[in-house]
Formats: sequence, C-alpha cells, structure tokens
Amino acid sequence: MSDLLTKQGSSSNDSIVGGGLLIKTYGCQMNEYDSEKMANLLENTHGLRLVETPEEADVVLMNTCSVREKAQEKVFDELGKWKKWKAEKPNRVIGVGGCVASQEGKVIRQRAPYVDVIFGPQTLHRLPNMINDALGARARDGKAKAVIDISFPEIEKFDHLPKPESTGVSAFVSIMEGCSKYCTFCVVPYTRGEEVSRPFNDVLAEIRTLAEQGVREINLLGQNVNAYRGVMSDGDIADLAILMHAVRLIPGIDRIRYTTSHPNEMTSNIINAFGEIPELVSHLHLPIQSGSDRILALMKRNHLALEYKSIIRKVRAHRPNLSLSGDFIIGFPGETHADFEATMKLVEELKYDRSFSFIYSPRPGTPASSLPDDVSMDEKKQRLYALQALLNEQTQAISAAMIGTKQRVLVERLSRRSTDEMAGRTENNRVVNFPGRIDMIGQFVEVEIHEALTNSLRGEVVDEPEAGLQRDAARYYAL
Ligand code: SAM
Ligand code: F3S
Repeated sequence: MSDLLTKQGSSSNDSIVGGGLLIKTYGCQMNEYDSEKMANLLENTHGLRLVETPEEADVVLMNTCSVREKAQEKVFDELGKWKKWKAEKPNRVIGVGGCVASQEGKVIRQRAPYVDVIFGPQTLHRLPNMINDALGARARDGKAKAVIDISFPEIEKFDHLPKPESTGVSAFVSIMEGCSKYCTFCVVPYTRGEEVSRPFNDVLAEIRTLAEQGVREINLLGQNVNAYRGVMSDGDIADLAILMHAVRLIPGIDRIRYTTSHPNEMTSNIINAFGEIPELVSHLHLPIQSGSDRILALMKRNHLALEYKSIIRKVRAHRPNLSLSGDFIIGFPGETHADFEATMKLVEELKYDRSFSFIYSPRPGTPASSLPDDVSMDEKKQRLYALQALLNEQTQAISAAMIGTKQRVLVERLSRRSTDEMAGRTENNRVVNFPGRIDMIGQFVEVEIHEALTNSLRGEVVDEPEAGLQRDAARYYAL
C-alpha cells in the first residue's frame, strides 16, 4: 500500500480499506483505459480489489460517456439503484467520473446528493485523496458532501498513476488526451479538454515496462492519436511517426496499432510510416463521418471527401491489403438523400472492414444542436440500416477472402470453446481460433484460415517462427 494511505490513513477511510471496487464503464476505449488505471490506483492506495456486483463492493464508480444518446439520463437511472445500495450500508462510497461528470458535475450533486466524489477524465489520479476527503468530511460532519474536481490540470495525471501492469500480450498506452478540432456535433473538446500530448520519454518508458512484462503488441491511444506532438529530452517535438519508429526498437514489441485518427492529421510522415515500419499493422481506423462535402463543411471537419480518398490511396500504395475502418454519422441536421447517397458511394468505392455508424445525436452546447433538422427519425433509421447492411456485406466479403490465406497471428489466450484450442488476432483485428498449445501464448504464429464465421475465423497453424523463444506462458495463462 502506498505512502498516500499510510500518511493520510484515518479511521474515516478504514471502512473501505481492502474492500471491493466495482467500476461501470460506458463509451470508448479511452474510458476502458482510464477505468483500468483507476482500478490500479485504488488497489495501490486503498487495497481495493475489483468485484463483479454492487453487493460485493464498498466503492462503486461510474465512468461515463456523453458522446451520444441520452447518456445523462442513463447516469441518473443507475444512480437511483445505487442510492438504495448505499442506504443499506452508509459507509459505502459512490463516485461518478468521465465526460458526463465533466459536463454535469454540479447537476449531479443537486440531483443525487448521496454521490461522494465527482471527477473528470483529467482528474482521476486525484481519486484516492477525493475519497479520503469525502469520508473525512462525512465522519466530521455526520453527513455526506460531494467532493468535486472536474478541472483540466494539463496532463499531470500520468505522473500520479501507478506503474503500468499488463493484463495480457497486448496493451493500450494513452499518448495524448483531449481534442482541439471542435467538430460542430461533438462534446469531446468540452468534456476532455484540448489536445495535450504526453512527453516522448514517458511514453517509451511505459512501453518498455510493458514489454518487460511480456507484452508484444502496443495500441497507441488518443482521441486524435495522430495529432501527437510529444516533447523529447532535447526539447524537439516528436510526431506519431517518430514515436512509432522508437517504439518498434523496444525489444519484444513486434506489433503496433493506433486509434483513433483524424484525416487532417494524416501527414506524409504518418502515411510513409506504413512503408517504413513493418511492425505497424495494415489496419487504419480513419473516421470520415459523411461522404458529402456539404455535410463535412457543416460538421466543420475541414477537409473534402476527395482529400480523404487521396489519403487512403496513398496508404494503400504502401499497403495494398490495408484494412480500413471508419466512423459515420447518419442524419446530421439537413442531410438530404443526395448527401446520404454520397456517403454510400464513398463506402462502395473505398471498401471498409468493420466500422462504427450511428444516427446523429444532438449534444447540448454544441453548435450543430441549434441547426434546423427536417429529416424524420424514420428516414434516418432507414438510411442507417442501408449503410450498415453495406458495411456488413463488405466486412463479410473480406473475411471470406481470407479463407486459404496465411495470416500472422499473435496468440493471446485459450479459446473460449476448448482447452485444446488457442485464440489470437490477425493484423486486421479478427479473432482466429485454432488447435494449439498453451506455450504458444505470446508468440506470433502463421495460421492458414479455413473458415470464416460471423465474428471470428478458424484455421490451423502452419508455421511457428518463434517456437524456440523462451516465454513465460504460464504467467500469461495466470492472467
Ligand atoms: N477523432 C475522431 C475523428 O476524427 O472524428 C473522433 C472521435 S469521437 C469521440 C468518436 C465518434 O463518435 C466520432 O467519430 C463520431 O462518429 C461519433 N460522434 C461524436 N459525436 C456524435 C454525435 N453528436 N452524434 C453521433 N455520433 C457522434
Ligand atoms: Fe469529436 Fe471531432 Fe474531436 S469528432 S473528438 S471534435 S475530431
């Protein structure tokens, strides 16, 4: 347990020390990453261990997302249930974090006064102190008072998080936070703050630690990961391409992914990295949102559909088999049938491999939320189904075309079906199940694909180039 608790330990927080922690995570990979960090942190400071149900927990945290839907109402629905849970044992602690907390901090305090801590995406490292403060105040005053901190203190949070711990052969590493693009439909710049990059050496140190724990694949994470501009020790600035050149040199790291990117940050350095860095997968997630230039302008995306297509053409010149995925918004205010057809045409032309598509959801405080919208919800739904049918058809066609090919697969774990089968991932992120041995975990193997199912592939190992590598498979298995 860290100094933090021994110094600040008091009878008020003893009630939760060594107890159970439940974290409910909504939304994106950034939130998944943040929740994992919160769990590590509270294990270090308060000895809390993760549990599955509220009944086993002493602390419950909600990591919220407000990018789409009526996220706010979902938060209050869940809090209603937790109110009863807390009434049973008043020493329990409730915390709300993430983007809804960031946007609605004070409203949460008013509508749910039994919430103890309200923290934002940039203040989660302060959680242990906030929990201690809330418990201290409760012990002193005899009643709960929410401790709120939803500020954006630059990027100090990474200096206060515990040493990373891998949970398998693949790991996420956050390299930048926030977004400064201000697309007219999106709340992220308001809830997560402007783009801030972690220093170059800090990122490399984290990846080295993970590699020493057996991690083979790194997924560099950021809201606009290709806007990374990390300060190096000599004061120069490294972009994502320079960072990837450094990451590939770390012993043990043999596969690099990044997500999610913005078209306007696809510089020639980043495009050329596909030709220069063999460890970089042939997969690119590059959101476009719409194929119509008129809608792109209303969204303030600041690029044309043609410019996006040109980026993909250049990347495919390096990687003809590039697997491309994107994000699409259907039914942006005023989207005409012709605008929608432009999106369908772009998808037909570029051929996507799995993508995210959603109906536009007006977000409070964003410029687009005050635009007139004359398209009915029925029409929007029909357009969404047509787009999703096309995207799905393309995805299944790519899976079918993989039959008979040999794929480089990173073996991750036992298959969920049988203990004689292993599961791993291809470069284009498909799960493959195949007969194998447990000592293959952590190795790259060549698998010939025999069958394409809806959500996975099946195959057979045809080569084990790393068979002689001494890896501690038992440790992966224990994880
Ligand atoms: N960096 C990415 C980019 O270049 O667009 C975006 C990250 S954003 C948090 C994730 C996705 O959420 C967006 O690509 C967009 O498709 C979706 N999104 C954001 N705001 C939305 C809204 N108001 N309605 C529907 N979808 C939305
Ligand atoms: Fe949102 Fe646009 Fe940034 S979609 S996260 S404001 S690039």
